[in-house]
Amino acid sequence: MTREIMKRTGLTEAVLTDLVHGFYGKIRRDPVLGPIFAERITDWGPHLAKMVDFWSSVALMTGRYHGAPVPKHVGLPVTWTHFDRWLDLFRETAGEVCTPEGAAHVIQRAGRIARSLHMASQDARRPAGCVPNLV
Ligand code: HEM
Repeated sequence: MTREIMKRTGLTEAVLTDLVHGFYGKIRRDPVLGPIFAERITDWGPHLAKMVDFWSSVALMTGRYHGAPVPKHVGLPVTWTHFDRWLDLFRETAGEVCTPEGAAHVIQRAGRIARSLHMASQDARRPAGCVPNLV
């Protein structure tokens, strides 16, 4: 499976490492997102290594990431505008370091995960016991 995805998309561990490092370089320089990360991440080495494992699992199905992203995002001071900006920078970086097929593969997955993290963070802000809005 991993080999087939690599062949089809041109994605490799080296490309994903460039993607993660390039992307978080932009995030750290971003005037809106940069400070949110800077307040929470002091040692970037382990975070970048974790994010390479995450993208290896998500994009290449290697199973290398075993964490739980949702609890890390529910308390963040963010709205969809922040996720939109995150996705803009991700798309830009993917276009720089991946083949068109590889960029499409990671961008599609990033969009899906961003939507589910956003929903989880919105849901966590509901008052306890309130009736869920299902539409
Ligand atoms: C507004 C957008 C986002 C912000 C501000 C944000 C911020 C953060 C921060 C500050 C951390 C470190 C948390 C900690 O260690 O305490 C983190 C971790 C992480 N983020 Fe995000 N994030 C955003 C969107 C995303 C998206 C869209 C994805 C996936 C496509 C993602 C995936 C992850 C993962 C996998 C971790 C590591 C969780 C773990 O510790 O296992 N984030 N994020």
